[in-house]
Amino acid sequence: MALNSYNYYPHNVIKLSRQPRFGEIRASEGIGLQGNVSLSTATDLVSEMLGLRHVPNYAHSYGVSLYSEAFANELGLDKRQQEVVKTAALLHDIGKIHCPDNFFNREIDNATRERYRRHPMLAKTLLSKVKAFNDAEIPEIIAQHHEHEDGNGFPKGLTGTNIRIEAKIIHIADSFDSSITPKYVDSTAYSPQEALDRMQKGAGTCFDRDLLDKFAGFVSRNKFAIVDEVNAKVNGRIREFGKEYNIPTFMIPSIEKRAAKQ
Ligand SMILES: [Fe+2]
Ligand SMILES: [Fe+2]
Repeated sequence: MALNSYNYYPHNVIKLSRQPRFGEIRASEGIGLQGNVSLSTATDLVSEMLGLRHVPNYAHSYGVSLYSEAFANELGLDKRQQEVVKTAALLHDIGKIHCPDNFFNREIDNATRERYRRHPMLAKTLLSKVKAFNDAEIPEIIAQHHEHEDGNGFPKGLTGTNIRIEAKIIHIADSFDSSITPKYVDSTAYSPQEALDRMQKGAGTCFDRDLLDKFAGFVSRNKFAIVDEVNAKVNGRIREFGKEYNIPTFMIPSIEKRAAKQ
């Protein structure tokens, strides 16, 4: 099937009652239409834009949001905080939209790495323009998702208690999902147990030790049943996404590979 770029426009995603008048759009006020756009609609729209840039990163973000939400629930965070964690996780890598093609093709040089390291702050800048995200403090949470307990993370080198719990949850879920998911044709992935063992080496330095222990207990319960559950949901969502935007199947990652070896 021939590629038709027209098919990629996400028209009909949000039906606006009218077009904004010139001057009505101000960053300080969100997009000026925030009363018409719910947090979940804005989240779906923005996250799908990452999907149009790179489908595997959309699949990864969706997986991270499922792990993060379930773990937040396990930790006893209230419903509102669970929603915030889930939303921030779905958008955590939106700043990668700015990365060049060679980043997605794994040809990473210094300039590309530098661009990659900007993705948390770029997400903060972008998402801060929308009131619904600001109200939930999502831009700040996302800005912290690569910070480490010992201050060796980025972009700010925050330490321990200065890092928000929502960001720590996403950081752990992010590393786990990345480790068990082959993102590229022929790339390898770790089993869930191997991924946890590797992450354990960063307990107290890269990750919050207590949260990591709890996460390990949570995901390994019932022989990693949650991994199968998350994989099934992500695979279903990616198939729908491909159909919705008429993305040729060759651009969809071999999603069945998300069924990681146990
Ligand atoms: Fe990231
Ligand atoms: Fe990520």
